[in-house]
Amino acid sequence: VLAWGVHAVRLKAKGLRRVMRDHPWVFDGDVVAASLPSAPQIVDVLAPDTSFVGRALCNPRSKIALRLLTRDRVPIDDAFVAARLEAAVRYRERVTAGYEAYRVVHSEADGLPGLTVDRYAEVLVVQVHAAALEPFVPVLLDELRRHYQPRGILGRNDAEVRRLEGLPQTVELLYGEVPEVVYYREGEVRLAAAPYTGQKTGAFLDQRENHVRAFELAFGRALDAFCYHGGFALQLARRAERVVAIDSSAAALEQLKALARENGANNIQTVRADAMGALRLLQGRGERFDVIVLDPPAFAKGRAQLPRATAGYKELNLRALKLLDVRGRLVTASCSHHLDEAAFYAMLAEAAADAGRTVRVLERRHQAACHPEILSIPETRYLKLAVLEVVATF
Ligand SMILES: C[S@@+](CC[C@H](N)C(=O)[O-])C[C@H]1O[C@@H](n2cnc3c(N)ncnc32)[C@H](O)[C@@H]1O
Repeated sequence: VLAWGVHAVRLKAKGLRRVMRDHPWVFDGDVVAASLPSAPQIVDVLAPDTSFVGRALCNPRSKIALRLLTRDRVPIDDAFVAARLEAAVRYRERVTAGYEAYRVVHSEADGLPGLTVDRYAEVLVVQVHAAALEPFVPVLLDELRRHYQPRGILGRNDAEVRRLEGLPQTVELLYGEVPEVVYYREGEVRLAAAPYTGQKTGAFLDQRENHVRAFELAFGRALDAFCYHGGFALQLARRAERVVAIDSSAAALEQLKALARENGANNIQTVRADAMGALRLLQGRGERFDVIVLDPPAFAKGRAQLPRATAGYKELNLRALKLLDVRGRLVTASCSHHLDEAAFYAMLAEAAADAGRTVRVLERRHQAACHPEILSIPETRYLKLAVLEVVATF
């Protein structure tokens, strides 16, 4: 069935149920295989009874066969994409006041599935994770230039997920100039992204509000495990006596050292180590801390890894809690969306019980508002951050 001159893909009943619950993804097993096109493209989506459901990005090679763009019979053209971008830009104007770096487009959460755009002051970094979106890259670049007048735009298209879409892995300058290191202010701290080589698009923007909050929570002896460029460590250092910053990445620690000098923070000690081993070592030496930040990478990349991942998070938090005294604070995060909020807090309760600590929950925080959460898309609700305080055992 052809509508509006485009290919039409038919959903099976399960695929339709998913779309009706307002989730944009349809997996390959939930569409009629014979109705898939041979190459990635924009398609019409039809219900099992062939009624019109919407329009989607389609990739017949991907497990996520369809990413729904709209339920309306509107053309998916440059104007459509420009309007979605405009909406994303306007929302950021409401939630990023005072920040020089933030996420401009957060994929499905902005109605632009497969697209990430991060802004680091004068530089934009773009990632495309959906093959059918590629033809729209030129209009996206034009519109981004119109909105932000950037000095440069980098295409950071070397993520593993591109392989699943059958896309090449490249890092290429798309416009202007982009330096190896881009500096930006976050609160009172000068921070940096490494757009060509750093993790994610160069830095961790999803913690930006939590970084700034960490300044207010800091005192005494602080520890930032999994510190990367020191988004937390540099904030802690402004209030704490000293900060131990641990990461396994030598490049990340070099950047942190340079930033510590730039920020005039001479109370940060960097340690290249496996964080779990380092916590054990510190405990063995009888060291104590007043504030500990734990921001590990996602331990659970899939649902099957959840039990092991939960055990890992628990061990980590238990170790940290043992290094804290009464009044000590644990700022602890998980960015695995598979570990939901309830499971995260249940894990923390077990860690506290095993560590023999009673903790008060000071704050339950999440990813920064520039990474919006869409209620019907659980994958967009991924970062949990608890601020806990050890109290005298009841
Ligand atoms: C989520 S990022 C941390 C982001 C950082 N806290 C920030 O806000 O910018 C996780 C970090 O853990 C580091 N890492 C991964 N495995 C590690 C390990 N076993 N021990 C220590 N660091 C590790 C990575 O190099 C990365 O910098």
